[in-house]
Amino acid sequence: MLRDRYDNDLSTTSDAVRDHYIVGVDRVLSGAADMAAPFEAAVAEDEGFALGFVGLARALVLSGDMAAAKAAMGQAVALTEGKSGREASHVNAMALLFKGKAMESLAAVREHVQTWPRDVIIAQLATSVFGLIGFSGQAAREASLLAYTESLMPHYGDDWWMLSQHAFSMCEVGQLKAAGDMIDRSLAIKSDHAHAAHVRSHVFYEEGNLADGIGYLEGWLADYERRGLMHGHLSWHVALWALEAGDVGKMWSTIDADVKPDVAQGLPINILTDTASILYRAELAGQDVPAERWAHVSDYAAKVFPKVGNSFIDMHAALAHAMAGRNDLLEAYMSDAKGFAGDVVQDCASAFDAIVRQSWGEATAAFSAALKDDARLGGSRAQRDLLEFGLVNVLLRQGKGEEAERIIGMRRPLVAHGVHIAH
Ligand SMILES: [Fe+2]
Repeated sequence: MLRDRYDNDLSTTSDAVRDHYIVGVDRVLSGAADMAAPFEAAVAEDEGFALGFVGLARALVLSGDMAAAKAAMGQAVALTEGKSGREASHVNAMALLFKGKAMESLAAVREHVQTWPRDVIIAQLATSVFGLIGFSGQAAREASLLAYTESLMPHYGDDWWMLSQHAFSMCEVGQLKAAGDMIDRSLAIKSDHAHAAHVRSHVFYEEGNLADGIGYLEGWLADYERRGLMHGHLSWHVALWALEAGDVGKMWSTIDADVKPDVAQGLPINILTDTASILYRAELAGQDVPAERWAHVSDYAAKVFPKVGNSFIDMHAALAHAMAGRNDLLEAYMSDAKGFAGDVVQDCASAFDAIVRQSWGEATAAFSAALKDDARLGGSRAQRDLLEFGLVNVLLRQGKGEEAERIIGMRRPLVAHGVHIAH
């Protein structure tokens, strides 16, 4: 029986199909460009290869082609109808996600990895800050993510993907030294690994290490294809550091070249959230953000995400609509946010609405409510710290500098005290 790179059995009898599959999986795991092509080649040659269709479906989702992804998933389901074992369990876990049953899918993933921990296409569904645990909305979900990757670690040895995912989990709970060491191990094995370069950047960010961070990331990006999954989001990290360094020209040129709608090639979730986020941070830093920039991102949010649903997206859509003065669109986020952390979205939307009305006391109360457990929104600490910076900004506008300092000191101590962790 043929096996994939993680020693899982494959139903195909063709060496060429197995090779295509391995290439496809590695492209998914490393955020490389052209993820779908190897899976397309695999199922073209072996149309009974169910896992080839699942891989294709996953790759097409990550390429932003939902219609084709659903068609591929339908093929996988049909091929495993009435079957049991790893293939059927693998297809079921992914199929539940396609049906929008995220919590059922997460339960199926957890059960699947108990028996087949190295079935990586299923294991990876629950990793990272945008995965099934990241978007579960559950309290203490960062600890949950850490426990999940920790439980997988003994099964993977020195695997570049596993190391990168566990490093990210550790980074997000503040285990920065261990996360930094682990991500360097991952990158030493596979340097063209976009998710690892991303985690490396997050560790630098959490350490407050601007100088090493921006140099590292710009150097890494020089060899990464613009069509790669993470290109737009990694460019956002560059823009964020450029702003922090006071290089506003570089921030705008990076946004205009690689981050904003109509130019970035990544997933819509990144295009919306990264653009709204950097515009707001620019405002917090005292920059003038032209109204048309906010209108542009608000229009994009309304077009691509017309309904509330994913709380992480909703928080940023609410920000864009508020700053664009689109109260008609903002209203749904303040009263009707139904996602996995809808209550937190409502607090955030209320804070943004109050900011636009310059009602600083109201904004303070709403931000404070959101920050009780903002991790439930999903995404990374680096993405959500705009909420803390937003709160600090409204406190400063009320002359409450001491309170602002205390909050930053408690919530972002490395930023507050300028601590730099040496490597
Ligand atoms: Fe990031």
